[in-house]
Amino acid sequence: MNSKPVRILAIESSCDETAAAVVEDGRTILSNIISSQIDLHTLYGGVVPEIASRKHIEKIVPVTQQALDEAGCTLKDIDAVAVTYGPGLVGALLVGVSYAKALAYGARLPLVGVNHIRGHIAANYIEAKELEPPFMCLVVSGGHTHLVNVTDYEHCRILGLTRDDAAGEAFDKVARAIGLGYPGGPKIDKVSKEGNPEAVIFPRAKFKGGEENEYDFSFSGLKSAVLNHLNSCSMKGEEIVQADIAASFQAAVVDVLCHNSMEAVEKNGVKKFALAGGVASNSALRSAIRAECEKRGVQFYCPSPVLCTDNAAMIGCEGYYAFMRGVRSDLSLNACPDLEL
Ligand code: KG4
Ligand code: ZN
Repeated sequence: MNSKPVRILAIESSCDETAAAVVEDGRTILSNIISSQIDLHTLYGGVVPEIASRKHIEKIVPVTQQALDEAGCTLKDIDAVAVTYGPGLVGALLVGVSYAKALAYGARLPLVGVNHIRGHIAANYIEAKELEPPFMCLVVSGGHTHLVNVTDYEHCRILGLTRDDAAGEAFDKVARAIGLGYPGGPKIDKVSKEGNPEAVIFPRAKFKGGEENEYDFSFSGLKSAVLNHLNSCSMKGEEIVQADIAASFQAAVVDVLCHNSMEAVEKNGVKKFALAGGVASNSALRSAIRAECEKRGVQFYCPSPVLCTDNAAMIGCEGYYAFMRGVRSDLSLNACPDLEL
């Protein structure tokens, strides 16, 4: 007997992308609309929270309508509304949360609040239909760097996190320092292909095995080392080769992310490893982790780049599993900028 599919309308507005999607039975995307504000924030060299909120207000209704239209649905075909309620920029989150609450109330639909970081992890389920927990996941985004054991659809255990800057934040700051501008990650990824990753050996922060939090990360020292290198070159009148610095910085980040991940894989006897978050679209990181997983006979998963950076399909996927286990949010749901994993 075929049971009726469960369709989630998902809304995401935690940073600078206004996104809506319709996802069926958790893993099939019927539509995935992303309105990016990158061009707007490029003018200022980074995301301006107030501008992000205003733009979300302009875009949230048409983007959601487009998601319903492309899915060939009306609200009558939807079983629940899922929305990111944290972590993120408070004003940006509030736009999505308020709109989702109004939609759910007006259409008498259940509302499911979703943690954005859990959404990034869930992005892996969309293309890898066979993937089921348990698996290990490295979540690397603009605001977060977490190495986690995903034990089931509801729980995960944090093994390591950043003690200072997130990986994406380091990419963005270094890109600005070497004149690549915003958004830094994709630009460093691109120019690094023309550079020598061994031109400058930048420091890699690694914590000792056996120590508490041995899988933690730290990127602020690396960022300072790049800034010091730039200063010292300009004092000595030496030419700065942007591509070499980008490639050398990227190599240091990838080395540390890979090192901690593989130590944890080996010590925990992991069989499946997944990448998630915006930095997971980095070509050097993807190929390094893939190669290390292959060496160890570990199955490697990584969403397509469009599902790594912020999108609503991942919120629909995570929202589906929460909805099916009975999670319901009421109209007191609020934006939680510091929501933890
Ligand atoms: O997950 P995401 O879209 O938003 C957050 O939840 O933060 O991640 C955005 C971050 C930014 O820091 C951006 O520079 C970085 O992901 N990023 C990349 C690449 N594409 C996006 N970093 C390195 N290489 C990339 N190709
Ligand atoms: Zn994100």
